Amino acid sequence: MRILVINGPNLNMLGIREKNIYGNETYNDLIDLIEKTSIENNIDIEVYQSNHEGDIVDKIQDSYFNKTDGIVINPAAYTHTSVAILDALKAVNIPTVEVHISDVSKREDFRKISYVRSACAKTIIGKGLYGYIEAILFLTNKL
Ligand code: DQA
Repeated sequence: MRILVINGPNLNMLGIREKNIYGNETYNDLIDLIEKTSIENNIDIEVYQSNHEGDIVDKIQDSYFNKTDGIVINPAAYTHTSVAILDALKAVNIPTVEVHISDVSKREDFRKISYVRSACAKTIIGKGLYGYIEAILFLTNKL
């Protein structure tokens, strides 16, 4: 089974940015955690991060052609703005879980809007880095 984890803008700054919201763990800690899960569960997992909307669209399109079984996506700020990412997810029609480290339902109003949500089988918010693991295990059980 092949799973693609996509992280949007500023998530490479985990451990540096707004630690009171996103915690002390770094982006490398996230990669290590996902790698451990991939080994324990024998899943092929690629982790990708970009600060650029079009690159994320390209990566989602690639996942169709390389036969990815499931996508975990934290589009970060693009969650609240990007019709292009929504359309790409709809185009590839691969089971997808939306993840947010923080509880976006309890923050500014603009963070309560998610363009990608309608293309996702599940949304996990406010569980920190563990949300990614829950998303991967959800896809593993579903697929
Ligand atoms: C985020 C929440 C978004 O509102 C924000 O723009 C992010 C991270 C989260 O993981 O909690 O960059 O997606």
